[in-house]
Amino acid sequence: MKTVLVATEKPFAKAAVENIKQIITDAGFRFQLLEKYSSKEDLLKAVSEANALIIRSDIVDREVVAAAPHLEIVVRAGAGYDNIDLAACSERKIVAMNTPGQNANAVAELVFGMLIYKIRNQFDGSTGTELRGKTLGIYGYGYIGRLVAQIAHGFGMQTSAFDPFVDNSLMEKDGVKPVQTVKDLFSGNQYVTLHIPANDQTKRSIGFDLLSLMPQGACLVNTARKEVIDEEGLLQVFEKRNDFVYLADVAPDNASVIAEKYAGRYYFTPKKCGAQTHEANNNAGLAAARQIVGFFQKGDKTFQVNKF
Ligand code: 3PG
Repeated sequence: MKTVLVATEKPFAKAAVENIKQIITDAGFRFQLLEKYSSKEDLLKAVSEANALIIRSDIVDREVVAAAPHLEIVVRAGAGYDNIDLAACSERKIVAMNTPGQNANAVAELVFGMLIYKIRNQFDGSTGTELRGKTLGIYGYGYIGRLVAQIAHGFGMQTSAFDPFVDNSLMEKDGVKPVQTVKDLFSGNQYVTLHIPANDQTKRSIGFDLLSLMPQGACLVNTARKEVIDEEGLLQVFEKRNDFVYLADVAPDNASVIAEKYAGRYYFTPKKCGAQTHEANNNAGLAAARQIVGFFQKGDKTFQVNKF
């Protein structure tokens, strides 16, 4: 009997876990759960029996793969799979998948939650500003970027987007202005929101040069990954322009320096929570469970992200 392990340091909502379990057991597989684990050792022990693994931002590195001799498939219940060592998986012919789009709406809504919170001065009663008529640059026009555009239009914002992997026509159809370079995106928008993956091309790619281009009242929103920011460059921007604001669901490593020196010009969620809604937990968790059942029962490899 196949064993499917759900290993989530940050657990799914209870109902989502119950629904995942149902799908797994209905398919005749064994369900195993490891939540809120506090050490890597716990994960290494838990994966020893697993044929399939469902994770969130949990790290599946070479050591975890080595500790899982029976592992055939790992599904990241979410979008970004930078937490999986794809090469280590491929060497063992372990299929790695994600569940694209399933938690996108939760992340898109958080962008505006953080924006409103900030531009209304943390709701302290002082005079704030509005989003209507302001410019929003969307960096990465995948599932999240598209939803961000829809919501932004509801607020009456002017949107533009940059994504070298997406046709301009798609953006135009959505009423979003495509821009041809990342520089154009930063120079043309007071607000910029990041929806790019963390990979070799994007890591540390956003720093002083790009952020300096932003117009007066610049505000960067990062619900993607902290790794895409060049943190030294970020500090330089904070230092050089006192209008610059940074909102992140993924606090930078130098968060304490920013907190100490630039009070009132940042907001960082205490724990990454972009995808932490009942709906997103259910959508992504159930999709992961169904993908595993489809893989074992029909050899379905849709959404595979590694090659071997
Ligand atoms: C994702 O890549 O899907 C998001 O960053 C969500 O991550 P999480 O599942 O750890 O909340």
